[in-house]
Amino acid sequence: MGLFSIFNKEIAMDLGTANSIVMYNDQIVIDQPSVVAIDTNKDNKIIAVGTEAARYEGRENEHIRTIRPLKGGVIADFDMAQHLIREFIKMADVTRSILSPALKMVICIPSGITDVEQRAVREAAEQAGAKEIRMIHEPMAAAIGIGIDVTEPVGHMIVDIGGGTAEIAVISLGGIVRNKSVRIAGDEFNENIIEYMRKIHSLHIGVRTAEQIKIKVGSAISELREEEVPEDYEARGRHVTTGIPETHLVSYKEVANALDKSISRIESAILEALADTPPELAADIYESGIYLAGGGALLRGLDARIAERTKLKVHVAEDPLRAVARGTGKALKNLDRFDFLIK
Ligand SMILES: Nc1ncnc2c1ncn2[C@@H]1O[C@H](COP(=O)(O)OP(=O)(O)OP(=O)(O)O)[C@@H](O)[C@H]1O
Ligand SMILES: [Mg+2]
Repeated sequence: MGLFSIFNKEIAMDLGTANSIVMYNDQIVIDQPSVVAIDTNKDNKIIAVGTEAARYEGRENEHIRTIRPLKGGVIADFDMAQHLIREFIKMADVTRSILSPALKMVICIPSGITDVEQRAVREAAEQAGAKEIRMIHEPMAAAIGIGIDVTEPVGHMIVDIGGGTAEIAVISLGGIVRNKSVRIAGDEFNENIIEYMRKIHSLHIGVRTAEQIKIKVGSAISELREEEVPEDYEARGRHVTTGIPETHLVSYKEVANALDKSISRIESAILEALADTPPELAADIYESGIYLAGGGALLRGLDARIAERTKLKVHVAEDPLRAVARGTGKALKNLDRFDFLIK
């Protein structure tokens, strides 16, 4: 760490529906669920945030509640979103110094958020001590994180499948030329799995179990290559009518079946975005293909399925869960060059 960094603190934050990541001086210092736990008996006092708060999910009582302030690509609970931002900045402040250096921040925000919501995000960052703040839209951050030169006059298509939304964006010359957002992503996939288990196996499972099924045996196609095939997963739940605890072995083929409709809808949105893209940029995309980012990109066979449907090459970002955070971090290093950042 050079002398300069003692006087300059820089934080990049990817404010996601499912997870938030904070980078401090180029290192990921926080990677935790976007959850706040409050005590309604104590005037909604915050009792935990992040990983700790997520442990309370599904285990609440009358006065302990958990809240995910971001939903479906928008800020659903202003107040709690602000708490979340402030707490994460506080937690990231690993080298609290007496010199109190100027804090610079870039925050990645869902591309669907309104001006009012943007102001709320800015306010929370200011209250946490940030002096210089910029915001960046999520698909732009994803593109930068993937390593695309977003300022060149070439069209690129990014599909970011997060927790709340799948965002499809065409980027050129530092701007988002086309943007399509559908509220079908990781959360919806979990719902699909819950619904499938209930209907097909009369097994009532919780969100956490659905999430495990998706990660352990998640698939977008029902014929995976041999080396990709995961071992069946033993899911625990309760029988829908008897209420007795039961287990069921779930295969990836079942998950592919459960997710089929949702993935089809994401594919249709991609095709619509392509159809709506100006011809020169579309020609670029036919050349370079589609880039997948966000946690949903980890679904087995999703790249192959989208490639088949669109007849385009599909690339999965390296470490897709962190591509947006990496891009936000890079934006922080290029505040002057990236004049498209939101002030
Ligand atoms: N291996 C995996 N397979 C499939 N899905 C996964 C995997 N790992 C994580 N996910 C899902 O990825 C989602 C989180 O992705 P990500 O962190 O990109 O979302 P986010 O940025 O918080 O949400 P958004 O971009 O919608 O605001 C969760 O729904 C999670 O269940
Ligand atoms: Mg995201």
